[in-house]
Amino acid sequence: MKILVTGGLGFIGSHTCVSLLEENYEVVVVDKLSNSDISVIDKIKKITNKNLKFYQADVCNEEELDKIFSNEKIDAVIHFAAYKAVGESVEKPILYYENNLISTIKLCKIMKKHHCNKLVYSSSATVYGSPKELPIKEDFPLSTTNPYGTTKLMTERILKDICLADPTFSVIILRYFNPIGAHESALLGEDPNGIPNNLMPYIMKVAVKKLDSLNIFGNDYDTKDGTGVRDYIHVVDLANGHLKALDKVNNTEGINYYNLGTGKGYSVLEVVKAFEKVNNVIIPYTIVARRKGDIAACYADPTKAKKELNWEAVKTLEEMCKDSYNFVKNQNK
Ligand code: NAD
Ligand code: WQD
Repeated sequence: MKILVTGGLGFIGSHTCVSLLEENYEVVVVDKLSNSDISVIDKIKKITNKNLKFYQADVCNEEELDKIFSNEKIDAVIHFAAYKAVGESVEKPILYYENNLISTIKLCKIMKKHHCNKLVYSSSATVYGSPKELPIKEDFPLSTTNPYGTTKLMTERILKDICLADPTFSVIILRYFNPIGAHESALLGEDPNGIPNNLMPYIMKVAVKKLDSLNIFGNDYDTKDGTGVRDYIHVVDLANGHLKALDKVNNTEGINYYNLGTGKGYSVLEVVKAFEKVNNVIIPYTIVARRKGDIAACYADPTKAKKELNWEAVKTLEEMCKDSYNFVKNQNK
């Protein structure tokens, strides 16, 4: 089976390419390299000892997509390509709506033209807004608090309408919780330029002394130790979830939604302590004010994915911390 992976050189996409190649799928990647590097291709090849086909193109560009679909006989698409920085989306909403919505609309248009009707889409737990109850189930009410989140929710609605209008079109929406970790080879991972927005990339930069100290955003939440609680999931577990979703999308009609999380919530302080212990490093931190827009706690009920996709996360927080550190050390050698 030949799979088109949009955004396949990014953090989650690159790990998913590895999982796909390991399972003998043919992989075609389209990425415009706005948040990734061409060197990732060689790293994927090195890990898997297999080849993939790469097109440097913008998924918003209909003509380029049309060429790719004409050149390749694509059986299904995994659509990662999107901008994902929450703060930037508040500053630059037009950029986010344009990139994240137009890419999906053009992709679906060209897929339909070429009779490719199987799509796995990267959504996010951000579509649950501030949940009234925990753990979060797929049928909870949806709402968003920033343009990035709204692009994910709007895309979910667009895909639902496409499926309603065309019963041959089938979509799996995967709502990821907090992906962290890295490939155990230390070749693939996430190492953003500048000051990271997210917790684990920030801790990683402190660990290799690129930043002095972590700011912990609030210790007065109604949580076990007052700091924010999230459902951190190892990126390799997440990548494997896409293979299960592919099996499902090939055998179902319509649209289906799945949480990809571990079901366990860890506080910021628990993550810091786990990172320090497993890697034998000190992460200096300061408690600062809450970050605007943050919620106290968020973790998944992953039962539906286990039951219907036959998938569950198996890697521990310690493995996530260890693999993250090995990756960032390797990057900074
Ligand atoms: P990433 O930024 O590492 O990867 C995205 C890739 O898409 C990058 O390689 C980028 O160059 C590419 N890209 C962006 N717009 C493009 C376009 N128009 N055409 C071609 N390529 C384009 O992000 P990631 O963490 O791997 O996230 C992948 C997907 O998962 C995104 O859709 C994101 O919204 C979603 N998601 C991520 C998280 C997370 O915390 N990382 C959580 C939930 C959902
Ligand atoms: C985790 C916890 C922070 C940084 C974001 C997006 C979400 C999804 C995943 C894409 C919180 C605390 C963080 C720091 C800290 N992405 N923190 N100091 O906010 O749960 O989710 O990434 O879809 O849409 O919003 O993840 O890693 O930023 O924060 O104390 O320097 O760590 O307050 O409690 P978040 P995060």
